[in-house]
Amino acid sequence: MAALKLLAISGSARNGSLNGRLLAAAVQAASLRGAQVETIDLRSLALPLYDGDLEKSAGVPEGARRLRDALHVADGVLLATPEYNGFPTPLLVNSFDWLSRLQAEGTAPAGLAVTAGKPVGIVSASPGLLGGLRSLNFTRQYLSMAIAMMPVPQQFALWKAHEAFDEAGALKDAKQQASLEAVVNALVKVATALKAAR
Ligand SMILES: Cc1cc2nc3c(=O)[nH]c(=O)nc-3n(C[C@H](O)[C@H](O)[C@H](O)COP(=O)(O)O)c2cc1C
Repeated sequence: MAALKLLAISGSARNGSLNGRLLAAAVQAASLRGAQVETIDLRSLALPLYDGDLEKSAGVPEGARRLRDALHVADGVLLATPEYNGFPTPLLVNSFDWLSRLQAEGTAPAGLAVTAGKPVGIVSASPGLLGGLRSLNFTRQYLSMAIAMMPVPQQFALWKAHEAFDEAGALKDAKQQASLEAVVNALVKVATALKAAR
């Protein structure tokens, strides 16, 4: 069987993003388990804030098609997102909201057709003591209830994230690394089983 393909997504595109660093550690763990991981930069999709009038006049922006195509070829998704006031970020939600507006075009599937039943592992990082924990269930609910994805049960909130990484970008604490790997392991296991079942 061909290698498992994962798409890595961060809800923060900020330079030096803690979630970007956590995602990189998750990508490394997934790569060590034989997965081929592509990373997509949501900021590079240049998606404006969703606006129904804009959609009516100009259609769904090209960036949504790039996200659709990247998701289409992926067997699963690794997702890290900051918590903004208890919620996943506007960058993340806006990107998936635009994706959800994309209808099937010729042989290209609709946005929600490529997310339906796709497994996702969700993590978050914050300098705070809860590590973004409050947002994880909202992220999980949004991605499953509205976007039809299948979050694996394991999740990880990295607290005091600004102190958590060594200079090579690895998590210094072995327990935190094990928690991150538990999410990655579950994602790889579920995505591999679903790929084999197709
Ligand atoms: C608008 C806003 C709201 C925030 N709300 C929370 C919050 O509810 N919980 C939390 O732990 N951190 C919160 N933070 C702090 C972020 O966790 C912190 O900025 C973090 O570094 C953002 O992730 P990033 O480094 O990946 O960009 C908030 C930051 C911003 C800008």
